[in-house]
Amino acid sequence: KNEFILSPSILSADFAKLGDEVNEVLSAGCQWVHFDVMDNHYVPNLSFGSMICKALKDHGIDAPIDVHLMVEPVDSMIEQFSKAGADLITIHPEATKHLHRSLSLIKDAGCKAGIALNPGTPIEVLDEVLPMIDLVLVMSVNPGFGGQAFIPASLDKIKRLRAKIDASGYNIRISVDGGVNQDNVREIADCGADTFVMGSAIFNAENRAARVAQIIANLS
Ligand code: DX5
Ligand code: ZN
Repeated sequence: KNEFILSPSILSADFAKLGDEVNEVLSAGCQWVHFDVMDNHYVPNLSFGSMICKALKDHGIDAPIDVHLMVEPVDSMIEQFSKAGADLITIHPEATKHLHRSLSLIKDAGCKAGIALNPGTPIEVLDEVLPMIDLVLVMSVNPGFGGQAFIPASLDKIKRLRAKIDASGYNIRISVDGGVNQDNVREIADCGADTFVMGSAIFNAENRAARVAQIIANLS
């Protein structure tokens, strides 16, 4: 069984002091940095690109950068983010015409590969590419914005995904993204998730270190 990983989404951070914000949540006990890239095309919002990823790396952030690409088309961004220091790159199957090719680009660039499943996307989309992926990102909200409410049907989907991955024999992480917080993280873990993306629950907390500690305690 994989250890639990917290991947705070910087979408809810204060961009005017991003480096300090990231260091704060890493010091508090988070392991990865979740990097939400939005293009106002695949999703109805615009965030940031690979330059910000490189800036974090140049600032000395050495935690794995967990890049979530909500962009269409996606292939040229895969190359940019691998060069900018991404460790894991997750893509949406709806945002590429050739899923296998895009995953190959990620692997050839030396990064770990993830597939994001929107709330309306069935887990069967993974069937032909399970050997190529390191992570499945279960979207528990529709992508585009932080601070949305967790969609309860995601819990059953995580359970079905856990069973599928276990039956496959591959070691693939299950990450959950959207509306995850200190109150529901335990239940989400019990369904079989091992990686937890959290934006507002961590960055909007009055005391972030205390909030991260609370999340870790609820998971142990
Ligand atoms: C939504 C993003 C999420 C989001 C999570 O499109 O993929 O990572 O920022 O934010 P919270 O935790 O606030 O739902
Ligand atoms: Zn995300």
